[in-house]
Order: sequence, then structure tokens, then C-alpha cells
Amino acid sequence: YAGAEKWVPRDGGMRKLRATIGDCRGCDLWKDAERSVPGEGLVRARMMLVGETPGDHEDKEGHVFVGPAGQLLDKALVEAGIERSEVYLTNAVKHFRFELQGKRRIHKTPSAGQIDACSPWLQRELAIVKPDLVVILGAVAARSLMGTGFKVTERRGEAVKLPDGRAALATVHPSAVVRSQNFRRDFAQFVDDLRTAASLLD
Ligand code: URA
Ligand code: SF4
Repeated sequence: YAGAEKWVPRDGGMRKLRATIGDCRGCDLWKDAERSVPGEGLVRARMMLVGETPGDHEDKEGHVFVGPAGQLLDKALVEAGIERSEVYLTNAVKHFRFELQGKRRIHKTPSAGQIDACSPWLQRELAIVKPDLVVILGAVAARSLMGTGFKVTERRGEAVKLPDGRAALATVHPSAVVRSQNFRRDFAQFVDDLRTAASLLD
């Protein structure tokens, strides 16, 4: 893929970013998705949470984390004492990737090539928001932000640094908790990681 570089504005703020992202042709995901879904939340947030890609609901509604994973994330944020309105929420990849099964659109994990193609948008959001802490939600966000070789399963809940030195903490993706066979345990661990993240900001 050519990558998003060419479409990402070099200057300006969130308004300009949001106005240009729909034109991106940095990989092939724009073709089948309904729309691009940029991040949302407080532009001056101290905490930025980075998920994977919009899902079916997000693609239809045009907002991040409004489907089942988003509802779980909302509950976990409340339990961890974090206000959704005070953070910035985004995804590593801005268009929905899916496979058709009959009429149903089944989420597919974006490829490494698509994650890397879309990373200039995420990097631009980081440059605009300048969060003090980035919460990495799952392996796709980890690939985008930490490169290859970083294993969320081994490092979750730990204070780490992005390659640019910014403070970060990795945890699982909320959709992994939604699907968990041991929901109570995995939800509690997810909340614990978010609490740790909040404590890093104190
Ligand atoms: N999963 C994500 O990673 N992001 C969303 O916006 C929704 C589900
Ligand atoms: Fe551009 Fe990212 Fe959409 Fe690919 S997924 S077309 S790189 S915005």
C-alpha cells in the first residue's frame, strides 16, 4: 500500500484532520466501508486510548466505540473512574475491514500492511492531542504504535514508552473481553489495567 502520508495534513488541528480523512486512499479499505471514522473526544485530553478499527456499528454510525466493544469499554472506564468525555478515543485503522457472510459483515483484523498504511493518521492525532499517556488496546494498536516484537500478552498493565518516548500502557482489546469465556476475571483485569493507566497520570 502507498500509505496515508500523502493525504494527512501537515499542519492544522483536529478540524482539518476530520475534514480530510474521508479522502484517504492510503490502502484499499475505503472501497467497501461506508465511511472513515476518525477519533473523538477531548482534543486536549491527557489520555488517548487507541483501539483497532471501526466495527459494523461504528462504520454505520460514524462514531468510535459505539458497538458492543464500546459499551464494554464505557463500563470499564466508569469502574476505573475515567470519564469518557475527558479522554480521546481513536483507532489504529480508520476504515472498517470485513468479510461478507451472506448479508452479514464479519469483522476481519486489518493486515500489517493496512495497519502501517494508516499509521500516519494516528501519528497526526498524537501530534495534535499530545496526550501524556497512550492506552494501547490490543495487538493491532500495539503493532501500529510499538512496531513488531511487542507482545501485549507479556507486557499488559506495565508502564512502557512509545518509540518517541511518550508514556504508554498496553492492555487487551475490549472485544476480547466481550468474547471471553471467563468474563468476570477478564473484565476485572481490564479495569485494573485502566486504573493503573489513570494512576500514571497522577
Ligand atoms: N473496536 C475498536 O477497536 N474500535 C471501535 O471503534 C469499535 C470497536
Ligand atoms: Fe486511508 Fe486508513 Fe482508510 Fe486505509 S484505512 S484508506 S490508510 S484512512
